[in-house]
Amino acid sequence: MVRNSQDSGNESEIRIKSGRESYPVVIGGRLDDLAGRLSIFGVGRLFLITDRRVHELYGAKLLRDLSGAGWRTAAAVLPPGERTKSLYRLERLYAAGVEAGLERLSLVLALGGGVVTDLAGFFAATFLRGLPLVNVPTTLLGQVDAAIGGKNGLNLPAGKNLAGTFYQPRLVYCDLDTLATLPFRDYRSGLAEIIKCGVIRDPDLFDLMERGIDGFKRRDPYLLRRAVTAAVRVKRALVEADPLERTGLRRELNFGHTVGHGLEKAGGYRRFRHGEAVALGMLAEAELARRRGLLASAAADRLGRLVAAYGFRTRAAGCPLEGVLSALLHDKKKQDGRVKFVLPAAIGRTVTCDDVAQAELAAVLKIFIN
Ligand SMILES: NC(=O)c1ccc[n+]([C@@H]2O[C@H](COP(=O)([O-])OP(=O)(O)OC[C@H]3O[C@@H](n4cnc5c(N)ncnc54)[C@H](O)[C@@H]3O)[C@@H](O)[C@H]2O)c1
Ligand SMILES: [Zn+2]
Repeated sequence: MVRNSQDSGNESEIRIKSGRESYPVVIGGRLDDLAGRLSIFGVGRLFLITDRRVHELYGAKLLRDLSGAGWRTAAAVLPPGERTKSLYRLERLYAAGVEAGLERLSLVLALGGGVVTDLAGFFAATFLRGLPLVNVPTTLLGQVDAAIGGKNGLNLPAGKNLAGTFYQPRLVYCDLDTLATLPFRDYRSGLAEIIKCGVIRDPDLFDLMERGIDGFKRRDPYLLRRAVTAAVRVKRALVEADPLERTGLRRELNFGHTVGHGLEKAGGYRRFRHGEAVALGMLAEAELARRRGLLASAAADRLGRLVAAYGFRTRAAGCPLEGVLSALLHDKKKQDGRVKFVLPAAIGRTVTCDDVAQAELAAVLKIFIN
């Protein structure tokens, strides 16, 4: 195996810059080694935020390790699921933080999927005006997406992710072994985001996803390591270029998500896992690009075959077209009357379009939704 200077043993490190600061994303670290690693922050108080399922699998043992290493720990163990990203849970976390006697330098450790890292990120950004945060994502989606880039979020009654801040973690620590216990649909949901990274920026990653279908289905550790590393590099390039989502560059990460969000919303956030909606969204948006002459049919077909090969649904039966369209039009209101689409121009390159007509969109959606 080729090693670079940042590799040590089985783990490798990708540094993400944010203003004058930067933080490492460790890929292939082991949870068993985490307590030792955290001593660089100065052993003191630590507040673990996790969900019940992850706590049973990994959190309880980690807390014992941390206590053994001298940390004074407290934990908030949340119910698993999207509903946990709420103001109610945030308020409970604030109360628990007070009770645990957290101070400005106490460490917040988020252990879990995107739900946990989003809520814990918001908590860490705001409690006592900001506590140091370490993200330990345990889902594939968390490791390639939610835990990096500094965005956090909460759902409000009016909609998903309507409250949030940009707040960078001090460290992101990914133990790839934790992916072995993920339910298959959650695991595959993360694969969709990796395919997306290949389409927008990294043709080699796309090739790897094509060549490694059986291996990825088996969760082959070598393949996962390569794919997670490549996907984190894609995300790094975009978040470093557009840290606060101001220049539009970060928007590339939204390929598949404009239609995907419409599908999720129309399905009441129950019908699809996020990545399942994104997979279908990528197909619809690639078809839009193909019809506009932006994307060669051969490339659109390649994406279609890949998404199908991983077992994603390539049609959303029973999902009302009207509902998906009106969810998209809701976005439209927010963006001065135009829906912005990131469309692929090749495997590895995108363009932004803001002139997609409603009839054009409806015609494409009809192919994928019936
Ligand atoms: N902030 C961002 O930039 C960003 C980016 C993408 C997604 N998100 C957010 O992430 C959330 C989705 O994250 P997710 O897909 O990780 O879902 P999730 O956090 O709900 O986790 C999915 C399920 O897997 C379980 N789980 C987690 N790790 C496990 C493991 N190792 N073994 C067994 N079970 C495990 C959890 O208990 C949960 O039931 C959404 O709320 C989304 O808005 C945020
Ligand atoms: Zn996504």
